[in-house]
Amino acid sequence: MGDMSFGSGCILLLFCSQVLLVDVPREGHYMAAVYEHHVILNPNPTVITDRQSALQLMNRNLDIYEEQVIAAAKQRAQIIIFPEDGIQGFNFTRTSIYPYLDFIPYPDSGTWNPCKGAYLFNDTEVLHRLSCMALKNQVFLVVNLGTKQPCKHSDPHCPPDGRYQFNTNVVFSDSGTLIARYRKQNLYFEYAFDTPPEIDYTTFDTPFAGKFGIFTCFDILFYEPAVNLIKQYNVKQIAYPTAWMNQLPLLSAVEFQRGFATAFNINLLAANIHQPVLGMTGSGIYTPSNSFIYYDMESVNGKLIVAEIPVITSECEAQVQNTDNMQQSFSSFHTDNQVCSKEDQEAHCGTAEKASWEPPPIFYGEMMYDNFTFMPIMEAKGNIQVCSNTLCCYLSYQRSVLSNELYVLGVFDDLHTVHGTYYIQACVLVKCAGLNYTSCGQEVTKASGLIDFQLQGNFSTAVVFPLLLRSGVTLDFADHLGWKNKFYVMQKKGGSNGLITAALYGRWYEKD
Ligand SMILES: *[C@@H]1O[C@H](CO)[C@@H](O)[C@H](O)[C@H]1NC(C)=O
Ligand SMILES: *[C@@H]1O[C@H](CO)[C@@H](O)[C@H](O)[C@H]1NC(C)=O
Ligand SMILES: *[C@@H]1O[C@H](CO)[C@@H](O)[C@H](O)[C@H]1NC(C)=O
Ligand SMILES: *[C@@H]1O[C@H](CO)[C@@H](O)[C@H](O)[C@H]1NC(C)=O
Ligand SMILES: *[C@@H]1O[C@H](CO)[C@@H](O)[C@H](O)[C@H]1NC(C)=O
Repeated sequence: MGDMSFGSGCILLLFCSQVLLVDVPREGHYMAAVYEHHVILNPNPTVITDRQSALQLMNRNLDIYEEQVIAAAKQRAQIIIFPEDGIQGFNFTRTSIYPYLDFIPYPDSGTWNPCKGAYLFNDTEVLHRLSCMALKNQVFLVVNLGTKQPCKHSDPHCPPDGRYQFNTNVVFSDSGTLIARYRKQNLYFEYAFDTPPEIDYTTFDTPFAGKFGIFTCFDILFYEPAVNLIKQYNVKQIAYPTAWMNQLPLLSAVEFQRGFATAFNINLLAANIHQPVLGMTGSGIYTPSNSFIYYDMESVNGKLIVAEIPVITSECEAQVQNTDNMQQSFSSFHTDNQVCSKEDQEAHCGTAEKASWEPPPIFYGEMMYDNFTFMPIMEAKGNIQVCSNTLCCYLSYQRSVLSNELYVLGVFDDLHTVHGTYYIQACVLVKCAGLNYTSCGQEVTKASGLIDFQLQGNFSTAVVFPLLLRSGVTLDFADHLGWKNKFYVMQKKGGSNGLITAALYGRWYEKD
């Protein structure tokens, strides 16, 4: 996989000389919407109920969906995405979720338009309502719901109770026709649902932005189907329902969504659940060069985001990074090659003539359940490195705003095994939660330290997600990003907010 190139693609930029019409997207652009939904939850999700009660609860959520579809359509949105689990909620058992499941007549649906047609199938009330929302408001609608599919015991994958239960995304066209279905591949401890017997690679076409791909939540961390969809189907826009519990320093929703859109140079339309008490917030519309996000741990309200974004075409090839510029800025970082030991720091750090070179202190710390190798940043500026297994991470830094905060360079190159199994290669520059080394890797959301840096690593995987998060969980863009020989490099000078995390989060899928 080492020769795979993900950086290609191009943004169609059209500079309009005319006066912009407020309510019509500019040429080469479209209006996208995502809704972060404060889901009305079943207080007793494990208790078995009947279809009528289930529909009652789901209709309360669908009432909000309908309001938001209308609001989005008023703003000329052409497509709107709702989050995973937004209609029925979560924490069901396999049995207790059953009354909440709709039946999808797939793949025979073809031209099924639930709103226009009669009730051809039982247990399709939710699909009917969604179809009518799409039709009435003439908007493409992407929604996640639970679905059921009877199966025969002759089917070797058929569960003992004779039915599949899927965590499903459906897509309705602006005329209300069911045009796509995707069944979540990478379930996150969702015992109510089955993994589909074969992987869904789901795309759908739109008249305003061409082809979209679709997957769900945890899928974003895996090769199948997410990366394969982008590679094999040449998808440049992704509709992404999620129910994501934030985990700092590396897996906060907006942070990782941003990193994904950057890594693949695509548009990502991500809708998350809004449930701050469960750590769920963080939705956004991401283009390769812009982010429109919502992240709010205080408010109890959902949020509609509508943004005009460029259609990304695949007809031309462009690289995000400018290697020449990067080379120039590199050299300015490396002019004084100082490396300090801890003892050195007050006395004579920065002097070139170091008689006895003592390696700085390395320590181990748990970050997001992984045993990272850390090295503290002791000086106002310097070059340090840490290695683990086959990955070496290098940091050149200069602290432009010195603060009484502890930052570390960290490396991890191993299989992550808690809450999912996946192989990570990561180079990180993070702020520790306190001044004690034992606090490094813990969650922190505020920082005041500003650091100009160049972070790089000799990754063995081609897929590296660049993460750059600032105080208050705000996003930033690197100045330079990309491969330089065998190193993936991120470089940033300046910044308006304190630095929480700068990271190169690599996924070595073959070693999962
Ligand atoms: C759902 O389950 C998770 C994990 O077991 C738990 O943390 C959370 O509080 C539960 N949420 C609700 C709404 O019951
Ligand atoms: C729908 O359910 C009713 C009552 O259970 C049943 O009589 C009917 O045959 C079902 N219709 C279809 C199309 O499955
Ligand atoms: C972390 O890794 C180091 C190096 O392999 C090892 O010495 C240390 O015991 C590990 N710590 C934990 C908590 O596993
Ligand atoms: C990364 O660099 C280290 C140190 O030079 C080296 O031992 C390791 O083999 C390199 N890894 C790869 C994948 O080249
Ligand atoms: C750092 O924290 C550890 C464990 O919380 C504690 O044992 C140690 O004394 C602390 N060190 C300092 C310098 O405060």
